Amino acid sequence: MNIILLAPPAAGKGTQAQFLVSKYHMKHISTGELLRKSLKQDDEISKEIKERMNAGRLVSDEIILDLIAKEIETAKEGVVLDGFPRNRVQAIEYEQLLQKLGQKLDVVLYLSISKEVAKKRMKGRRTCPTCGKIYNMHMEEMLEELCGSCHTSLVSREDDNEETFDLRYETYMRETDPLISFYQEKGLLKQIDASKEKEEVFKKIEQILSTLS
Ligand code: AP5
Repeated sequence: MNIILLAPPAAGKGTQAQFLVSKYHMKHISTGELLRKSLKQDDEISKEIKERMNAGRLVSDEIILDLIAKEIETAKEGVVLDGFPRNRVQAIEYEQLLQKLGQKLDVVLYLSISKEVAKKRMKGRRTCPTCGKIYNMHMEEMLEELCGSCHTSLVSREDDNEETFDLRYETYMRETDPLISFYQEKGLLKQIDASKEKEEVFKKIEQILSTLS
């Protein structure tokens, strides 16, 4: 099964992707995570990627499509896409890639949320640099900010500050929000209220997936 998680920044895409992986054993592809990993290389491309991410802008389609093609071609059991596609060009390229591979997109889960709630979640986010688990300081009690699974010290993302969040949100509204109608017209979009607790959001996702063949 191929799933897209479509949502504004900090709505809970990564959190729901982790639930999906754990229950359905799908491959999770987060373009944000792939880009953050690529920043460890000290070259011109990494510099450009970092600049764009910290300015809340999209990284070029060329870089993203190259990353995605490599990941999808090696995925055998379907994928959950988190943070891709983010504009019309990427959405069309993804359709063509699936067609080439003889696969189809099953559903687009649109996690709807207000900017205010998403911003609050962003401010409390901490992630584990070792296992990638996502936490929230405002929601969970954390002993000395350590990962509950592997005891690594949790970190904040460089782009998780109020100014960059506002820019990321603006970029989302301009470039990504139009994909809601793009997928609605194809009959693939399912809207979920992402302001609910994460377990409740996942229950809704499970219900939707159970109706798909
Ligand atoms: P990316 O890493 O994709 O960031 P994003 O889209 O802004 O999404 P986030 O990772 O911030 O949030 P999320 O929705 O995954 O929320 P999470 O589950 O962590 O992209 C970063 C940058 O990379 C972009 O700005 C761009 O520059 C570039 N980029 C990436 N993909 C690209 C592409 N395709 N094309 C071009 N450029 C690209 O949850 C957030 C917090 O809320 C956590 O603390 C979590 O614990 C908490 N939480 C989650 N759900 C709930 C809930 N239901 N209730 C309470 N708390 C919750």
